[in-house]
Amino acid sequence: MFLELEHLTMKFGGLVAVDDISFSVNKGEIHGLIGPNGSGKTTIFNMLSGYYKPTSGKIVFEGKNITGLPAHKVTQAGFARTFQNLRLFKSMTVLENVMVSMGHLAKTQLLNVMFNPIAAQKENDLFTEKAMKLLDLLDIRQYAHNLAVSLPYGTQRRVEIARALATEPKILLLDEPAAGLNEVETNELAEILTTIRQSGITIFLVEHDMKLVMGSCHEITVIDYGKKIAEGDCDCVRSDPRVIEAYLGKEEDL
Ligand SMILES: Nc1ncnc2c1ncn2[C@@H]1O[C@H](COP(=O)(O)OP(=O)(O)OP(=O)(O)O)[C@@H](O)[C@H]1O
Ligand SMILES: [Mg+2]
Repeated sequence: MFLELEHLTMKFGGLVAVDDISFSVNKGEIHGLIGPNGSGKTTIFNMLSGYYKPTSGKIVFEGKNITGLPAHKVTQAGFARTFQNLRLFKSMTVLENVMVSMGHLAKTQLLNVMFNPIAAQKENDLFTEKAMKLLDLLDIRQYAHNLAVSLPYGTQRRVEIARALATEPKILLLDEPAAGLNEVETNELAEILTTIRQSGITIFLVEHDMKLVMGSCHEITVIDYGKKIAEGDCDCVRSDPRVIEAYLGKEEDL
């Protein structure tokens, strides 16, 4: 099994934000996690990415127990994430924002810049080429030398995804990547997610936007008040009475 969440629980004081949740994510698929506001999605996301240590339960990735590992170790294990709110470097260009994420891949670091400048330059060229390929994948090459913050919101979101991919992850975790996007941008994002998956990267997608989830996920887990209430493919989840009830008043979204 690729990624397994086993009886995960997270308590904040008296509040049980995530309550005994188990599910698995298959390699090479897009797995969606949906649920109403405050249902615990970001909390699960933060446990997966090493930002929160679960109160109890286990996270097993490629057979290894990664529960409670710090974020940088989780990154080394092959996870990359984006944030629900954008976190780009304001004074850097799009290309620089992506390249700075490749830092941990660098073999010839500071010492080589001083003692072996040719190797350092070669490595820099290689990273530039890799970063430009990611910009192509996200369809943002034309903005490579623009300041990231000068770009429209939807484009900045893509820069953030390119940055996450720059660490060469096995699994990409996205927290509400469609937040603040218009319908055209959301449709473009769905296509981008499919392209990323086709390149061999598994995607774990936390989303509020039903259209994005229904249009791109193979498997969906639905939570409400910290508990799992349904799971399955789009059709199965869409017609589940517990899901309809959790989203009551929003059925038109389903
Ligand atoms: N660091 C924290 N400290 C205390 N309570 C928290 C913390 N993080 C989340 N919570 C609480 O846990 C519950 C789940 O929050 P979470 O952010 O996981 O929900 P969500 O499903 O991501 O919501 P949204 O759709 O609004 O992003 C909420 O009641 C929230 O107030
Ligand atoms: Mg959230």
